[in-house]
Amino acid sequence: MALAAAHSIGLTQRQAIDQLINDHRGRPGALLTVLERIQEAQPRKFLPAEVLRYVAAAMRIPLSRVFSVVTFYAFFNLTPQGDNTVCICRGTACHTRGSRDLLERLKLELGLTDTGPGEGSADKVSLTTPDSRFTVRTVACFGQCALAPVVEINRNIHGHMNEREMHKAIQALR
Ligand code: FES
Repeated sequence: MALAAAHSIGLTQRQAIDQLINDHRGRPGALLTVLERIQEAQPRKFLPAEVLRYVAAAMRIPLSRVFSVVTFYAFFNLTPQGDNTVCICRGTACHTRGSRDLLERLKLELGLTDTGPGEGSADKVSLTTPDSRFTVRTVACFGQCALAPVVEINRNIHGHMNEREMHKAIQALR
């Protein structure tokens, strides 16, 4: 997963991060909580490289550990996210019920390629349209395999998804 381009941290953001760190100092899961709150406060819901460096230094944690946390948890983003997020499950149950075709159809509909903004490969995808309206991602499993294929649109789970329904949902968001 590639880090987004350098991003300078303003005084206000540094103060907000310092405050968060102070508020959670010594608590279990402090790093996760701090990172989660920072991401939530970002307009494009991602963690720029400079922010990760700043958090690592301020919490006296090796940057490698911060980086492994944000790459381990799927809800952390290292690139700017679109206004709408469509997440397609690529787990086995969803794969056997056509999730790859759904993904390819969606990329086609939104004009996304794996070399576009964001990042992507055959099975792990995070792509954002140039107009920042949509981000398309994949996940290993939503834990809703009985509903396969599963697609999450703006945090709402849609089971037994098909291309027609997905097209309708995308059109409604345009
Ligand atoms: S494999 Fe898709 S929800 Fe489990």
